[in-house]
Amino acid sequence: MGKIPENILNEIQDRCDIVEVISSYVSLKPAGRNFKACCPFHHEKTPSFIVSPDKQIYHCFGCNSGGNVFNFIKEYEKMDFIDAVKMLAEKTGVKLPEYKNHDDEDGSIVSTLYSVNDIAANYYAGILEKTGSSSEVRRYIAKRGLDAPVLKKFRVGYADSSWKALIDYLSGRGVREDMILKAGLAVKGKDNAYYDLFRNRVVFPIFDARDKIIGFGARVMDETLPKYINSPETAVYKKGLHLYGLNFAKANIKERNFAIITEGYLDVMTCYQYGVTNTIASLGTALTTEQIRLLKRYTHNVVMLYDADQAGEMASLRGLDLFLEEGMNVKIATLEKGHDPDSFLRKFGREKFDSAINKSKSLFTYKLDILKNRFDNRDPESKAEIIKEMLSTIHKVKNAIVKAEYIRLLSYELSVKEDAVWEELRKIKDKRQEPRDKGQGIRKNIDISPAEKILARLMLEDVNVVKMVRDELSPSDFRNQDIRNIAEALFSIDTEKGLIDVARLINSMENKVPQNIISFIVNEEVDIRDKEKNICDCIMTIKKENRSRLLKDIQSRLDVAQKSGYEEEEKRLLDEFNQLIKRGL
Ligand code: UTP
Ligand code: MN
Repeated sequence: MGKIPENILNEIQDRCDIVEVISSYVSLKPAGRNFKACCPFHHEKTPSFIVSPDKQIYHCFGCNSGGNVFNFIKEYEKMDFIDAVKMLAEKTGVKLPEYKNHDDEDGSIVSTLYSVNDIAANYYAGILEKTGSSSEVRRYIAKRGLDAPVLKKFRVGYADSSWKALIDYLSGRGVREDMILKAGLAVKGKDNAYYDLFRNRVVFPIFDARDKIIGFGARVMDETLPKYINSPETAVYKKGLHLYGLNFAKANIKERNFAIITEGYLDVMTCYQYGVTNTIASLGTALTTEQIRLLKRYTHNVVMLYDADQAGEMASLRGLDLFLEEGMNVKIATLEKGHDPDSFLRKFGREKFDSAINKSKSLFTYKLDILKNRFDNRDPESKAEIIKEMLSTIHKVKNAIVKAEYIRLLSYELSVKEDAVWEELRKIKDKRQEPRDKGQGIRKNIDISPAEKILARLMLEDVNVVKMVRDELSPSDFRNQDIRNIAEALFSIDTEKGLIDVARLINSMENKVPQNIISFIVNEEVDIRDKEKNICDCIMTIKKENRSRLLKDIQSRLDVAQKSGYEEEEKRLLDEFNQLIKRGL
């Protein structure tokens, strides 16, 4: 991706008012210094989407989308960042410079890997094309019933049994060896030479939502294990961020307003062949929040169609709670025992398949049925067990009415008092320390400690706080990577200039932190009655936490050193430990 200079972004931003831009999409109502609306990015009945004219940012407290005017256009119009900038540039009459594709290091490796993958896919497809109909791979593909249009559409290929055919082919086209390695297409052997990763397998390119090939999955043609070899993570392929087949399915997903999620490559291709073109695959792993959010751009409705043997597992059911957390509707369809979508379609055809989809049950009903089966004895303990498991799902339902309805149903189904079920639900809530850490909504697995969040919030508001914090902490003292990046940016600004322009800061941090994190932090409610004390406390907390982490780390290394008799290391660590203790905070 090329990069647009920050000063141009700022110029465009200065010439348009975020309130004006957003009002052309969403009807905003004044609320104090801000404007409010029902969020355009998720379904809600009471407005939690705010736009700040002072800061020129927006943020939704329901789904945590947020950012500046570019981010809004990007999200709303489902565009690339660059296209969003272009659109606003046109509106405001700012001329964009011609930008190259390879102007930064990261950008150039990414686009190089895309094209290396593309060439590799063509190579594999070419090899397949050349094989005769009696070859093993042709016989295998015929056996799986994949027809020519589908093979072409999904760019299916074949890696034969040679050790270096792809490497030689790519080298012949001027691709450097290190790029082949970075694309994950070659591996280093024991003799330090490079070999093709995929050999003697059918090759399925993995696309991102924009049709770029980001990796490959390759299947054996017999019962050998592993069944699949997949590309390793690369600069363009991160596991858990993509959904297989979304590039082909997204239009139909939007049109039918639901997506069918299967497990595997073959499921998606066979569905496609049978005209079920709103199908994607999670590629065998549990779905991640990122994948769900990606899908949420196209629909809020999902039917899970997992292999018959998998679907009933409690663990995979718990994974589905993530959909509820993201405010999506999830249903589960089941197939006859021993079948996956691919084999089911081939054996029973489209009509039966459609009826299986139509018969899909809500997560609530599906889970309750399983639990009722499992605990067929309705003694109080079993009931409590069922309710506990059900509540872990129900408490994630966003909509209060739906939630209340589920509680009513659950108490009815098990003939227990509704009040008692509500009481149990409250217990689950109390167990979680914070009401609901809004930070979770930004990216899964990030936890910003309260101290870091408060400091960041106060710094973003006031350069004097930046000065204070800068004297006491360095960016690396912050544990959360995003906060660390923000601190780094803030510490390097000219604090004599006074105000911090949050909307501009978002431009300068593009690609460094998620777009919504700054708007999220800025809107964090902080008690500022005793601001200075609050700041000092936070700084102290961060220092203490760092120190105790450091001590713990030394201690555990010390432990290892002692056990393994590394006396020198032990002495060194002991010194380090004592110094740290002596130094105090
Ligand atoms: P399945 O075992 O259901 O495979 O795994 P499949 O795609 O349906 O293939 P067939 O029908 O047996 O030929 C589902 C998905 O899990 C991933 C793949 O993405 C596969 O499509 N998987 C499975 C792997 O990555 N590695 C494996 O060894 C097995
Ligand atoms: Mn299968």
